[in-house]
Amino acid sequence: MALDNRLLRDLASNEKKLWYKEIEKIKNNSSLRQLFHIEAPIGFLGDPNGFSFFQGSWYLFHQWIPRKTKRKMVYWRGLRSKDLVHWESLPYTIDPDTKYDSDGVYSGSAWVDKGKLEFFYTGNVRNNDNEREAYQMRATLSENKISKEIIPAIKEPPHGYTMNFRDPKVWQQNGKNYVVIGAQTKEEKGCAIIYEASANLKKWQFKSVLQPFDHSIGYMWECPNFFELDGHQVFIFCPQGAEEKDLKYETQFPNAVVIGPKWTDNNLEWQLNKPKLSLIDEGFESYAAQIVQVESRTIIVSWMGPNKTILPTEALGWNGCLSLPRELSIQNGKLYQKPVQELKSLYGTKHVINFEQMAKFKTGLTSQFKVSFKGQGQVVWNLRAGNDNLGLLIKADLENNTLEVDRQSVFEKEINDRVKGDTSRKIKLELDNDELELEVWIDHTSFEIFIDQGKYILSGRIFTSEENQNCIFKINGPVEVKGTWHEIKY
Ligand code: FRU
Repeated sequence: MALDNRLLRDLASNEKKLWYKEIEKIKNNSSLRQLFHIEAPIGFLGDPNGFSFFQGSWYLFHQWIPRKTKRKMVYWRGLRSKDLVHWESLPYTIDPDTKYDSDGVYSGSAWVDKGKLEFFYTGNVRNNDNEREAYQMRATLSENKISKEIIPAIKEPPHGYTMNFRDPKVWQQNGKNYVVIGAQTKEEKGCAIIYEASANLKKWQFKSVLQPFDHSIGYMWECPNFFELDGHQVFIFCPQGAEEKDLKYETQFPNAVVIGPKWTDNNLEWQLNKPKLSLIDEGFESYAAQIVQVESRTIIVSWMGPNKTILPTEALGWNGCLSLPRELSIQNGKLYQKPVQELKSLYGTKHVINFEQMAKFKTGLTSQFKVSFKGQGQVVWNLRAGNDNLGLLIKADLENNTLEVDRQSVFEKEINDRVKGDTSRKIKLELDNDELELEVWIDHTSFEIFIDQGKYILSGRIFTSEENQNCIFKINGPVEVKGTWHEIKY
């Protein structure tokens, strides 16, 4: 994959030598570099930001720490794509270079209006006493240059809220502009705050506090998205500190969704009766989802992080990746996610899968499967297995309607020790018919499983050796396995 020339240009000359060395190492380890997932050329990748469609292209930024510094110094790095599949790196970044964002250009969203692409984000500042300050910023792009201004009306959170106040997401509904921001009360309860913005987005006026539950959930909500989808209002957010009684999650923090009736411009009517929180992804790493709505499409991307352990690529100078873009819909009150149809352009040679007891074949490092299991019994499916390595294990039990994913064998022992047994996920499935369909996308260091037409998603990172290219199905009981798989051509 092409490395980022922008990065080389951006680095001060005394740093260049150092990074060249790092980049050399990256070239030599190409099997760990993703093929069709977004990664940073170097440094740490975090939340997706500024996801938008502007003048015929998709734009997608992400939190980026290009160099290790004492403080977490984040930038926005951006990419552009015509098809949501092939991305080119943008020749500019949004840098922490003003007094209002001197300790990080934190997360935020994009806004497309009157031929302009703009970004709203939180400027993170640590003052002389090392206390946090949070400024909501507007950045405008013009001829590959970024100009910034602070939004004067909200130099600080409303009274009663702490400086944990960040990640503005701008959206439009019924002709009005709104902004939702992740927040925390002085009592350390999570919530989000909605502002109504003027047509030119220069004036923001406090509108309401969005906290539709009948009790508090977590201590701080990050990365909110509030939008209408298929006649429902959907709130996607990251309630840090949520308790198991409200939401069962095994990731560090949850990437969560709650679906309600249509919002009527008056938050009091969005007090949900028995609101049900669920996870965007039942897997190992998923956080900070951001959506974009373009015409009738709603597309979501998440950060496949944070990781409970240090990833093997960190020693090589980079870390983190984004999920594949997924198309959202609501069916029977539940959020469905499907890989965007543009990803089909990655399909190379197609192979048919059809057997009754066992099959073993080689797939390479990147592939897409669509397989269905029908009958009563169990299937154990190894992906990216080696000669004496089990690879990723997908275990489907059609009698008990469970799906378990075990990735113990895809980490070096040293990593497994650090993860301390957190290497498997098991979910109970409510299937719509007697067939379990799985769509699985495998890239060099990640897997994404779309279960039952996207009703559940389970994804995560994997780090196997390059030799692990086998796919094995073993069946117990009367189960028919059918489907296809594609080699990926990029
Ligand atoms: C979520 C988050 C955001 C913040 C950003 C800083 O991962 O903590 O709330 O804006 O990361 O990198």
